[in-house]
Amino acid sequence: MRILVCGGAGYIGSHACVVLAERGHEVVIVDSFVNSSPEVPQRLARLVGRRPFEVHRIDVRDRAATGKVLSGGRFDAVLHFAALKAVGESWQRPLEYFDNNIGGTIQLLHAMRDAGVGSLVFSSSATVYGNPERLPVREDACVSATNPYGRTKLVMEHLIGDVCAADPGFRAVNLRYFNPVGAHPSGLIGEDPAGEPNNLMPYICQVAVGRRKQLNVYGNDWPTCDGTGVRDYIHVMDLARAHADAIDYLADGHDSATVNLGTGTGLSVLQLVKAFERASGREIPCRMTERRIGDVAQVYADPGLAHRLFGWRSELDVEAMCRDAWRWQSSNPDGYRRAPA
Ligand code: NAD
Ligand code: WQD
Repeated sequence: MRILVCGGAGYIGSHACVVLAERGHEVVIVDSFVNSSPEVPQRLARLVGRRPFEVHRIDVRDRAATGKVLSGGRFDAVLHFAALKAVGESWQRPLEYFDNNIGGTIQLLHAMRDAGVGSLVFSSSATVYGNPERLPVREDACVSATNPYGRTKLVMEHLIGDVCAADPGFRAVNLRYFNPVGAHPSGLIGEDPAGEPNNLMPYICQVAVGRRKQLNVYGNDWPTCDGTGVRDYIHVMDLARAHADAIDYLADGHDSATVNLGTGTGLSVLQLVKAFERASGREIPCRMTERRIGDVAQVYADPGLAHRLFGWRSELDVEAMCRDAWRWQSSNPDGYRRAPA
């Protein structure tokens, strides 16, 4: 199939591009590079071992530009990763988040309709569950946004749902990721946050490589096994594979769906730190601090629906997550080369 990957130069999108190419799909990337490096497509070409991917530096809010790419080449499906994703920043810059994420999705949906492309796989997030009442979390749990970023994900899911309802020729899979971590086993691509990492695994990696002094653990008084927050960490390669499976599911003519992507197992902050220390041989100094505003005690998925619909299950364990994250960080201590601001 020929697949447009919006946000394909980012962390998860780049890994999905590798899996799609390995399955024989033709991949075209659209990215504004607002949060990624122009080096990523070169690394992808090295990884996949063939001519470079077609890459367009386009903001998906530019409907005409995205439409031109879409109508130029008979696409079978679109993967939509293109969004701003930092929860803290979304409190400071809500309008930018609404504009980029919701505005970008509206324009992309228009461009897809104009080009007659009717299959979409959308990057949603477990953030839509807020503070879940029941664990493991199923897709039919109540949803609520607890921050502007989460609100954009909820609105985008609704927008996509409304378009599916209005147009029988349009179907979508919303994938609700839990906590993506790890990297491609080659160490050539991985997560490279700009500035201070918001998320746990990249922070641990930067401590291990000497870029940060210590990890601040946000609270050890949560009602969990050891008092630290529990999350469902999922290897980015497992996540990437699920996108290819979702595309096959749509290509087989199935209905739209909203699907969790997690392992189904919760790990505490300290358990992840210990696993990382074992995998890397590096000590991670930790300092206990106050809880982070907006955090919840535990969240982990019921991943059963992904298995029933796509035959997908996570395969890579926490050792692989830590080993691959460390291989990436230790081979690229400063991450990718970033374009000057
Ligand atoms: P990322 O920032 O690494 O990748 C997003 C990519 O989209 C970047 O390359 C960025 O430059 C591009 N982009 C952003 N806005 C754009 C626009 N308007 N037009 C074109 N390109 C644009 O983030 P990621 O971690 O790879 O996340 C991918 C998707 O998954 C996002 O939608 C994110 O909200 C969602 N998600 C991420 C996580 C996570 O923890 N990483 C968890 C759940 C959901
Ligand atoms: C994990 C655990 C922290 C950093 C976020 C978004 C969510 C989704 C995934 C996009 C928590 C603790 C963290 C640190 C710490 N993204 N922690 N010290 O908060 O579960 O989810 O990323 O959709 O929307 O909210 O992930 O990696 O930030 O935190 O102690 O320096 O690690 O308190 O318990 P989170 P995270």
